[in-house]
Amino acid sequence: MLQKLVIYLAVLVYCVEGLGGGCILQGSGLGNEYSVEATALRYQEEIHLGGGPVQGMHLSFTGLKQMVIKWLNPTPYKSGNFQPACNFGESALVLNFTTGGEAYTYPDGMFQMTLNKVQLNFSAFLGNTVYYKCGDIKFGYSPIYNFTMQKKYTEKRLLSKPRNESPPYFGVIDSSDAFVAVIGDHGVTRGEDTAYNIADHVKNDNLQLIVHAGDISYADKFGGETHNNSYIWVSYMNLMQPATAYVPYMTTPGNHEHQYNFSAYLNWLGNSMPYRESGSDSPFWYSFDYMGIHFVAFSTEHDFMPNSTQYHWMERDLQKANSNRENSPWIVVFGHRPLYCTSVICMERCEKEAPVFRSYLEDLLYQQHVDVVFAGHNHQYERSYPVYKLKPVQLDYKNPKAPVYIVNGAAGNPELNDPSFRFKVDWRAFDDITFDTGYMLMQPTQTELRFQYMNSNKKKIVDQFVISKVSSLDV
Ligand SMILES: *[C@@H]1O[C@H](CO)[C@@H](O)[C@H](O)[C@H]1NC(C)=O
Ligand SMILES: *[C@@H]1O[C@H](CO)[C@@H](O)[C@H](O)[C@H]1NC(C)=O
Ligand SMILES: *[C@@H]1O[C@H](CO)[C@@H](O)[C@H](O)[C@H]1NC(C)=O
Ligand SMILES: *[C@@H]1O[C@H](CO)[C@@H](O)[C@H](O)[C@H]1NC(C)=O
Ligand SMILES: *[C@@H]1O[C@H](CO)[C@@H](O)[C@H](O)[C@H]1NC(C)=O
Ligand SMILES: *[C@@H]1O[C@H](CO)[C@@H](O)[C@H](O)[C@H]1NC(C)=O
Repeated sequence: MLQKLVIYLAVLVYCVEGLGGGCILQGSGLGNEYSVEATALRYQEEIHLGGGPVQGMHLSFTGLKQMVIKWLNPTPYKSGNFQPACNFGESALVLNFTTGGEAYTYPDGMFQMTLNKVQLNFSAFLGNTVYYKCGDIKFGYSPIYNFTMQKKYTEKRLLSKPRNESPPYFGVIDSSDAFVAVIGDHGVTRGEDTAYNIADHVKNDNLQLIVHAGDISYADKFGGETHNNSYIWVSYMNLMQPATAYVPYMTTPGNHEHQYNFSAYLNWLGNSMPYRESGSDSPFWYSFDYMGIHFVAFSTEHDFMPNSTQYHWMERDLQKANSNRENSPWIVVFGHRPLYCTSVICMERCEKEAPVFRSYLEDLLYQQHVDVVFAGHNHQYERSYPVYKLKPVQLDYKNPKAPVYIVNGAAGNPELNDPSFRFKVDWRAFDDITFDTGYMLMQPTQTELRFQYMNSNKKKIVDQFVISKVSSLDV
């Protein structure tokens, strides 16, 4: 009771403060709503500018036995001065394969350093674990990292293993088996707890993939008049490196990536996402199959009306995925802005924007039996029941007849999190009334998709639920 009172008082204070920061209550055309704030607010940022010739190492999954590796060399870029390469092999002792890549730069946010990109193809390998180090003969190499390509889909062995049999469960996640972290709205400020926990799951559990539904680093909020803010990207990618050097990091842009026509986003992340591989002609939307899940990354920052290129691609992609359930039983869609939400502080988004987005996309998601739709944008966590046109179609998650919508934008960023939710909403199953930061863990098996929302500050399970289905293989 007392705790609730404190939260409500805090919300009140935040609402007043929120007029200058947080969610801007009035009109929010795509992307502009934060430009005013950037100069108005001051942040206590932790900057992770590392030493060494190889920084911000991160992987992107581009296909079976394929991976794109990217990193920063802090040396100022000069054409012809670099020879980036990765040495890799099936054992840390024998890195006897070498693949060269490209070095490049971009001018925005006063970025002058050198990005390096290498496409690894290890189809000759028998095993799934790859050891690698990357760098440049002139400047030096990284330590040896490794990653393990996950099987095409989670094998039946999980089916035959009862859930309470083996000890390493925490919540509904079996940490001896592969799982995914989903984050949204994550930057260097207030983002450290989430980043450290994720790195911890990579190191000690079996976290094998990170999905980020937009608003990445928040560089656009820094730099003031001189626009010197690219060092925030460096800082963010260094913060994430303990995880992203070991598991793929798959992203989609949010409103904070608009700056310089998405240039920083594209150069750091977008240009290594598997969009050509998934029949898309834009780095802003793509899909991939991993761990039994067909992931669809779409951009709410670009046109997705039913007559748009993006929508047409999505329609084709989802139809194909929905007829490929025996290979990938699950379909998970992620984009930055929510189709369903109930924030009070961000009422405009939930009452005006979300219905418009639903009018574009909800029928398609419903018809193709998408299992889950992740968004961020609102700095909070809430989940729906399976819902269609604002009506919960059932109050459980057994053989859901409609998609489940999750707002998961509380990973930590320069703005405060938003603990305000509309009081009572039929389709909402859970909302987390807190200022704390958090992230979602998700684990696929053939018949279950398990979810567990974690409080980053307290390292505590906040919410868990399991979608279960009769497997297409068993009917
Ligand atoms: C690398 O070493 C492995 C075993 O040590 C060997 O099977 C493979 O042929 C070698 N590859 C190259 C390109 O030398
Ligand atoms: C990967 O390498 C194999 C040979 O090891 C080759 O057959 C295949 O075409 C390559 N794939 C790509 C996408 O380059
Ligand atoms: C990958 O590297 C980490 C960190 O060095 C190490 O703890 C882990 O055992 C390695 N994984 C494998 C499969 O060798
Ligand atoms: C931009 O700011 C960073 C961090 O304060 C600083 O290290 C860097 O020298 C600045 N770059 C330019 C070009 O002013
Ligand atoms: C922004 O980038 C896109 C490509 O991603 C390009 O087609 C467009 O012309 C650019 N717009 C501006 C204003 O530079
Ligand atoms: C899609 O339709 C809307 C009107 O419904 C129109 O304003 C827009 O220009 C159209 N877009 C394309 C790409 O045709």
